[in-house]
This record gives sequence, C-alpha cells and structure tokens, in this order.
Amino acid sequence: MSEAASTRTSVALLPSLAPLLHQWLPRQRWFAGKGSHVAGFSLVSATELLPLQGPGPGLLHLLVRVRQPDLATTHAAADCYQLLIGVRQTLPPVLAPSLIGHVAEGPLAGRTVYEGLHDPRLSAVLLERLRAPGTLGPLRFDRFDRAPAIPRGLLPRPLDAEQSNSSLVYGDTFILKLFRRIHPGPNPDLELPLALARAGCERAPVPVAWYESHAPEPFTLGVLQPYLRDSRDAWMLALEALAGGRAFDKEAHALGRVTAEVHTALAHALPTVRLRGAQTEQLAAAMTQRLDAAAKAVPALVPHVPRLRAAFDAVAVLGRHGRAWIAQRVHGDLHLGQALHCSTDGAWSVIDFEGEPARPLTERRRPQPAVRDVAGMLRSFDYAARTHRPWNPTWAEVCRDAYCEGYAAACGTDPREEPELLRAYETDKAVYEVVYEARHRPDWLPVPMAAICRLAAAP
Ligand SMILES: Nc1ncnc2c1ncn2[C@@H]1O[C@H](COP(=O)(O)OP(=O)(O)OP(=O)(O)O)[C@@H](O)[C@H]1O
Ligand SMILES: [Mg+2]
Repeated sequence: MSEAASTRTSVALLPSLAPLLHQWLPRQRWFAGKGSHVAGFSLVSATELLPLQGPGPGLLHLLVRVRQPDLATTHAAADCYQLLIGVRQTLPPVLAPSLIGHVAEGPLAGRTVYEGLHDPRLSAVLLERLRAPGTLGPLRFDRFDRAPAIPRGLLPRPLDAEQSNSSLVYGDTFILKLFRRIHPGPNPDLELPLALARAGCERAPVPVAWYESHAPEPFTLGVLQPYLRDSRDAWMLALEALAGGRAFDKEAHALGRVTAEVHTALAHALPTVRLRGAQTEQLAAAMTQRLDAAAKAVPALVPHVPRLRAAFDAVAVLGRHGRAWIAQRVHGDLHLGQALHCSTDGAWSVIDFEGEPARPLTERRRPQPAVRDVAGMLRSFDYAARTHRPWNPTWAEVCRDAYCEGYAAACGTDPREEPELLRAYETDKAVYEVVYEARHRPDWLPVPMAAICRLAAAP
C-alpha cells in the first residue's frame, strides 16, 4: 500500500473500530481503566504487520489513546494502549473466543477483527520481526548483540497467567512480554535487565530482543527473553514449604544474595545519588502523605496513624542530623512472585523490573534506597506465612533473618543495620497493601493490618 493510501486507511480506521473497542477493551484483564467511562479513542499509530487486504489473515499494530475523564487525576488524561488486531473474512471456530467484532464500515467493512495474539499465524510474525533488526513505519525492532541467535519457526502460544501485560511463549524457548498500558520513555523492564546483561550479571533473563515505537513519542512495546521452562516462582515454593511444614530459610538466604547481586550490579551500571537532608525529608513527607490518604480511605488505619507517622519522622530527623543514604535504580516491585527458581541448575532469576505499574514512570525510574526492595520481599514472606493456617509467625521471622543474612553475605551491608529506613519502607508498603486489599480483596485485609499493628508497636 502507498504511504498516502496507508494514511487514508489509518484516519478512517479508528472511527470504524471504535464501537467494537468500546465493548471489548474494558473486558480485558490488562485494561487499567475498568469501571470508568470510556469517552473516546484517538490514534497514536497504526502499522500493518501483515497486509490487511491480502488473501491471508492481516495483523494490525495499534497504539490507541483511551480517553477516560474520570481517571484524569490518577492516570494520564488518556492512557495509551498497545493492541494487536487480527483481521479475517471469517473466524475459524478455534478463534471464536478471541472475537472483537464485525466491522460495519470504513476500510475494514465486512471483515472480522479479533485478538491477534491468540492466532499463532499472527504472533509468529512478531518473532520473525525480532529475529531481524530493522524498522517498519514507527516501529523499531532491536537485538542485544551478545544474545544467542533466535531460531526460525518456534511455535507461539499465549501465556496463561493473570497479568497486567500480555506474554507469548515461543516453543518453550523464549517469552515475549508485550506491554499493554504504555508510557513515553524507556520502560525499566527493558532498561534494567539490559543494564544487568551488559554488566555481565546473570540474575535476570537477558533481553534478547525488543521493539519500540519512535514516533510520535518513544514507547517500549515488547521484550523477548529466554523462557525459563523448568522454573517455579518463589511464592509457589514458599507456599509448598509452608504446606509441608518445612522451613524456607535456605531459599530466603539465596533470595537475599540474588537481591544484593542485582543491587550491586545496578549501582555500578546506572547513576546513583546521595539523599541528603532535604531529599530525606521529602521522602518521609511523601510516605506520610500516602499514610494520611490511606487513613481517609480505610478507617481501620486511623488509630495507628500517630505511631506510623513517627516511623517516617524518624527518617526525616536522621536526615536533618546529617545522615545521608545512597539512592540507586531498584526493582521497585520485588516480592516472592518475581523470583524464578530453575530446577535444572538451581539458579534464581529476578523478573518484571517495570516497578509498580500504578506509579508514574518518572517516579519508577528515579533512584531510591535499595532497602525499598528489601522491604518488599520482607512483606512477601509475611503474606506467604499468613496464607497458611494455623499462622506460624516464626516461619516468616526466620525467612526475614535468612534473607537479610544472604543479602549481607553477598554485598557486605545488612539491611537491618538501617532499622529506621527499613521500618519506614515496610510501613509504606503495608499502608499501600491495606488500601489495595480494602478495595480489591477485603478477605486479605487482616494480613497487612497485622503488619501495621506490628510496625506501629515497634519501639
Ligand atoms: N523468563 C521467564 N521464564 C519463564 N516464565 C516467565 C519468564 N518471565 C515471566 N514468566 C512468567 O510469566 C508471568 C508474568 O510475567 P511478568 O510478571 O513479567 O508479567 P506482568 O504482566 O508484569 O505481570 P504482573 O501483572 O503480575 O506484574 C510470571 O509470573 C512468570 O510466571
Ligand atoms: Mg508487572
């Protein structure tokens, strides 16, 4: 298709798909704006990955802004989403569950559109593109120069996981994570593993290849990594240990080591800053603000507010008295589910470096004290322990100690030597969990509330 014809197609395309997207998009697991009115769509870019007018199925890559005025205060005015739309005359029965709808007018009038990632003929195209670096319209496909070659013809299948993005597994050899809600600028889920791979740190799967869009704004769209087929995540392993009445201290120790190795490599590879008095006060003030907002949303927090505020104030006071902390790039959302253990070689790998997706990208990319990740993992041991009845608080305490010892063994710094900062980050995390559980899973609320009581009672 000529460029002029392609532009005409793009302009007419979105209005013709809009009625179908209105129905389909809010039902997708990865759609972040559920429950809020969708006022309309605007097209950021449209790229034909496979011709739409050819004899076979077509594949359309869309970046679409979704206007949701109710969300304007918490999200961008219009979040941008990545869509891969399959186009066929009729859908074979096996693809029926992936139907988006039948297009009534515009350039695709009379055609059927569907979730392209569910069609192996279409998702194979993405791997083919990633095999050969180059550009296609606004899309640029790149490869890590030291990564192993990508073989041809690996069969794709969608990963069947509850996730906020979409992943495809190719022949049990590679996994491609496609970011759904995208933000301008480098995605840390590419940036950090790439920095680790370049530094020779093997604690995260190597980003073998990736693709981005470079116009009109830069977006990271997808990252291909080796698929760790014989692996299980530490959350599953921890629950099994609990169910079998087994300790988890050896694993926790190894997780501490891995965390420290990742932190050390990130601190060498990417910029660090020193947090002095003013920045420390800002940090404590932001935590206090989140606590106050949380207490408004969840009244059960109110009696604990003075003691929890004191935990944040303690950090501000240390800063005022000249205590400085190093801030560096961190994982940002570390928990037991983010560590995979490979049963064949016993190695641990850390995954999903995108940070907490609900926070703005600029905040997620900002250097922070490494203790923040440690606090995330400590909270996760607590969660694991609480899923088991009868509750065994000693199990979590042993894990916490083993994790910190493993961390110290690998980098020489024991996170417990910074009790004020660790307590502040754990408190901040527990406050976040209280709000999340109250809103989404009230049955789980007692888990972070127990941590709130413990942290509030700490001397
Ligand atoms: N390299 C890998 N090898 C094997 N499995 C993997 C790999 N990377 C991710 N997974 C599996 O895919 C799942 C989803 O991956 P990931 O956490 O990166 O996606 P996500 O969309 O960010 O998920 P979430 O919404 O939970 O944050 C993981 O929980 C893990 O089970
Ligand atoms: Mg994630």
